[in-house]
Amino acid sequence: MDKIFITRLIPEFGLDRVRESFPTLDVWEEELPPSREMLIERARGADGLLCLLTDKIDGEVMDAIGKQLKVISSMSVGVDHIDVAAATARGIPVGNTPGVLTDATADQAFALMLSAARRVTESERFLRAGKWVTWQPSLLLGADFAGATLGVIGFGRIGQAVAKRAQGFDMRVLYHDPTASPAHNAQPVDLDTLLRESDFVSVHVPLTAQTKHFVNAEFLSKMKSNAVLVNTARGGVLDQTALYIALRSNRIFAAALDVTDPEPLPMDSPLLELENCIIVPHLGSASKKTRDMMSLLAAQNLIAGLKGERLPNCINPEVYKS
Ligand code: DGY
Repeated sequence: MDKIFITRLIPEFGLDRVRESFPTLDVWEEELPPSREMLIERARGADGLLCLLTDKIDGEVMDAIGKQLKVISSMSVGVDHIDVAAATARGIPVGNTPGVLTDATADQAFALMLSAARRVTESERFLRAGKWVTWQPSLLLGADFAGATLGVIGFGRIGQAVAKRAQGFDMRVLYHDPTASPAHNAQPVDLDTLLRESDFVSVHVPLTAQTKHFVNAEFLSKMKSNAVLVNTARGGVLDQTALYIALRSNRIFAAALDVTDPEPLPMDSPLLELENCIIVPHLGSASKKTRDMMSLLAAQNLIAGLKGERLPNCINPEVYKS
């Protein structure tokens, strides 16, 4: 019987699917993820590993699990926590969960963009602090959406879904992504043009060695002073020190982050001192239906890998060439 290790309790929707074929699966049921040592101990000898974005799976972990490992399936679309090249070198297919979280993540980008523009979290803190004394003509004024320009960086599924939503808000949409084709009336532009013209900038690039700290001091210095930056991609894409300086000095109007580096964000992070920075705990895909679907796709990848079939969503299809 194949041995399977699942690094956290995932929704029953997907878990049941795995159980139907592999009733003896082993699940890490703690609230916190297993440490690297615990993960290795429990996964040693496994044929299939289902992990989350909180688990760092590198070549050393793969080797410690053993040569019998047939598949690594992540319940996430992002795979920056997995050394995919190391998996490929070992002939192990890696699965992810694209598509099913596109709408939820685009909704979250929009929710954050609106919240930052209209200072929703700051206003609520103001009210709860008992500071609301009367209606005032210039109280907590924010930014308009209609007629504003949205710049989308990374025009994959999620970036395009954000652009689609922007149409309903009468926004002009620019995008920067040398590999993508136009969609939803969005206009392709170079990065400098996007930063110079956008009132809202939403980041949708995966975290790679090339995109690490892509949003840095120079990037922020090119944005408009009224601009709002939104990051629902990965925390590592953004230099948080540079962002802190830009927000603190009002170089840009506001930022809204669904993701940080590290996660969780330490409570002494200076970003938490700022009224013009919204931070939420990596919730882009956090709707019930989306998480159910992610667990199902992760289960399907795991099962296919264990059966020696091609993964329905494989990030390194080159493993099938050898
Ligand atoms: C993913 O799947 O990569 C997302 O970040 C989860 O919300």
